[in-house]
Amino acid sequence: MRTHNMKAIILAGGQGSRLFPATFAVSKQLLPIYDKPMIYYPLSVVMLADIREVLLISTPRDIGQYQLLLGDGSQWGLSVTYCVQEHPGGLAQAYLLGEQFIGNDDVCLVLGDNVFYGMGMSSLLAQAREYLRHEEGGVICAYPVSDATSFGVVEFDAVGEVLSLEEKPAHPRSRFAVPGLYFHDHSVCAVAKSIKPSARGELEITAVNNEFLRQGRLKAINLGRGMAWLDTGTPTGLLNASQFVEAVQSRQGLYIACLEEIAYNKGWIDREALLRLGDMMKATEYGQYVLSLGVRA
Ligand code: G1P
Repeated sequence: MRTHNMKAIILAGGQGSRLFPATFAVSKQLLPIYDKPMIYYPLSVVMLADIREVLLISTPRDIGQYQLLLGDGSQWGLSVTYCVQEHPGGLAQAYLLGEQFIGNDDVCLVLGDNVFYGMGMSSLLAQAREYLRHEEGGVICAYPVSDATSFGVVEFDAVGEVLSLEEKPAHPRSRFAVPGLYFHDHSVCAVAKSIKPSARGELEITAVNNEFLRQGRLKAINLGRGMAWLDTGTPTGLLNASQFVEAVQSRQGLYIACLEEIAYNKGWIDREALLRLGDMMKATEYGQYVLSLGVRA
């Protein structure tokens, strides 16, 4: 029986080889984007989707660092648990490792290096959840990019239904890349078990979504041009993402991916807890921002 409760898995594995030597000793998703660890950004998306149960998957080397950083999540009103991916076997392995955690619930998988920002984010997340409340299946996103060859690529028909999905095609059939944010009902675990590893030996998330498409159970939501989906895979991508976050935050005086703010606004932590968290970080502008949220109230 489906429950319609939704949990989240954040995948923070990988070698970060496109960032060597910066990632020789540190997990890529722990590197800072401007003023906070990269993993805060996908975690903020999970929180904005009103999901409070999170499983974080990482490598044997790095899992302890995530535990240090995020703890049990209770400081933000969350429950964060951990799972080790012993061998890198592809993104869809998350559904095998997370099967027990998912149980009969729906699941949102977000890649730990995907940074999203935009006014439409909360309503988009609500739209994905709403769809799964009424339908069984999966929801992916689509984002127009100038070069789609290094992503999953989704092609639409005239009425906006998904026509095809391909992983890193040399000749993309559309300019819509599929960002690392996926929503499925719990049948995704069985689907992940049924797919075969790709030529590069990985259980591809695109193969999972292709099976949902084949079964006529896949919907794609277009993120549109009003949303930022930033690349963090290369030194230049990291720098650009940091500059983007700095520019928005200093211009607006509003922070991107401030977990304390989201938890407080959602009523998951009270003012006292917010101020305590801010006080621990009062030496930084981030900490001062957190403190100011408690004063404004
Ligand atoms: C993965 C997925 C790809 C997706 C991308 C988003 O690629 O395989 O479909 O578009 O994440 O970040 P990877 O980053 O593993 O190359």
